Amino acid sequence: MPCALAVHGGAWNVPDGDVDPHREGIIEALKPGWDLLRSGSSALEVVERAVCTLEDNPTFNAGHGAHLNQAREVQLDASIMEGEKLEAGAVAAVQRIRHPVSLARMVLELSPHVLMVGDGAHNFASEHGMELCRQRDLLIGRELDRYLRVRDGEDDLVIREFDKDPLDIHFGTVGAVACDSKGHVAAATSTGGTQDKLPGRVGDSAVIGAGTYADDRSGAASSTGWGEGILRMTLAKAGIDRMASGMSPGRAGQAAIRTLNRVQGKAGLILVDCRGHASAVFNTPRMARGIATLDRGLLVGVDRRMTRP
Ligand code: GLY
Repeated sequence: MPCALAVHGGAWNVPDGDVDPHREGIIEALKPGWDLLRSGSSALEVVERAVCTLEDNPTFNAGHGAHLNQAREVQLDASIMEGEKLEAGAVAAVQRIRHPVSLARMVLELSPHVLMVGDGAHNFASEHGMELCRQRDLLIGRELDRYLRVRDGEDDLVIREFDKDPLDIHFGTVGAVACDSKGHVAAATSTGGTQDKLPGRVGDSAVIGAGTYADDRSGAASSTGWGEGILRMTLAKAGIDRMASGMSPGRAGQAAIRTLNRVQGKAGLILVDCRGHASAVFNTPRMARGIATLDRGLLVGVDRRMTRP
């Protein structure tokens, strides 16, 4: 049975100087994930591991290195879903969690619920043995600097992150989708959300159907980009529904991204189908992404063109 993996590190206006770290960060998640898939690991295991690697990398806006909200807090969202039984887990607005995607998987496996938020999610983490870290373990100097710039009056950062103006600011939800050797699919997504968000704001990455979806009858998808647009068009499910009607991941992804025109949405989407095909599509200037399939091997890109790692 063919297998496939795709990972992303955000769709946004990645500045020239950040292209290489994004590319390297993608390779760091893609290669071990592909090795695991090829040696028989489940799609669910592989997408969690790949997203944990991306959460640990401060290049990306997830886990360590995530954006600060207006209250100077790191508040994180994540979700994970598997396509055999359609089981899903998600956490929103959590703090002091090093790997929100692993907490989302605990919600999937150890609770009767799909989505947990705030203190209830923190208590659930502690009760199941997940150690809470300190806020400062997630905070990096770049993000503190951006927070202070916003406080100094650069209050249009969020919109400009997705436009073509040259910027030195940062946005970068992370995600992974996989099809394993048994034909099962899974998807996972994790983010620090948007720069300068209101405390309590939750984006697409915590929402099944918008940020993440997986169904063994069609495939798996993970979104990245401006969450308020993605949420309204349920972007991941839009891609899945098109694969269910017979489109390839590439065509399904393009069609799903076009639905964002109604809300002027800016985003990217990675998709795999259950036959081992993978694709990444975006309507932002750049998107950090990598795909691995049996027929095409490994491909990585931040600009339009993808090349071998
Ligand atoms: N796509 C991540 C967010 O908007 O929170």
